[in-house]
Amino acid sequence: MRKPLVAGNWKMNGTRAEGEALISALKSGFGPAVTAQVAICPPYVYLAGVGSMLEGSSVALGAQNVSQRNNGAYTGEISAAMLKDVGCEYVILGHSERRALYGEGDALVAEKVVAASRAGLKPILCVGELLEERESGATEQVVARQLDALLSSEEGLAALQCAVIAYEPVWAIGTGRTATPAQAQQVHAFIRQRIAMKDMALAAKIQILYGGSVKGGNAEELFAQVDIDGGLIGGASLNAEEFLTICRAAK
Ligand code: PGA
Repeated sequence: MRKPLVAGNWKMNGTRAEGEALISALKSGFGPAVTAQVAICPPYVYLAGVGSMLEGSSVALGAQNVSQRNNGAYTGEISAAMLKDVGCEYVILGHSERRALYGEGDALVAEKVVAASRAGLKPILCVGELLEERESGATEQVVARQLDALLSSEEGLAALQCAVIAYEPVWAIGTGRTATPAQAQQVHAFIRQRIAMKDMALAAKIQILYGGSVKGGNAEELFAQVDIDGGLIGGASLNAEEFLTICRAAK
């Protein structure tokens, strides 16, 4: 049995005060009804503060990006060791916004996943197709290419041993347009099969999250699919009640 994971991706939103208010509300809302692993991924500058608020709770801390490099003259970059040092357990990598807006290609994303896992972080590797790719029937081809960037090398495969995959159809992110549970399940099963071609044991244990307009109202039927092991939540993670409803739906 895979334990479900719900990760909140705050993206570049909120002030320190808003983040603190959100964490306080979440902490008072967590109870026995939340059995999933939960992670919060605030902006870099709030990691330490959110991390100290989460101390003693079962909620994990995650970052939204990392440098592929270890240290040195890379102004503005943050290393995986720094994230680990500040208390992160997870790091979101290859998010479609990083791919589309910051030109991160498969090879760079793979380097980041390897760097993160070497530092002892659990990478959350995001994959997913654009609307035109889905409409032209290229969904599996795109997702396979994104996965193969890691599956095709020994160090990539090793890095995936402690990773989580997030399937996020780009057309569903922040659009209010969610993939149907059947559409999501189909791609999740494809991802698991693709991994099984290289490593059966990994395919059986790896958590595959769905992301893209998950809300309190649609989480349960998405998470009920056999190959969906929780969610990566953007917009709805900024609202405590909504996020808690999603966390409770992951069983
Ligand atoms: P959304 O974002 O929940 O706002 O659609 C998901 C994500 O980008 O991870």
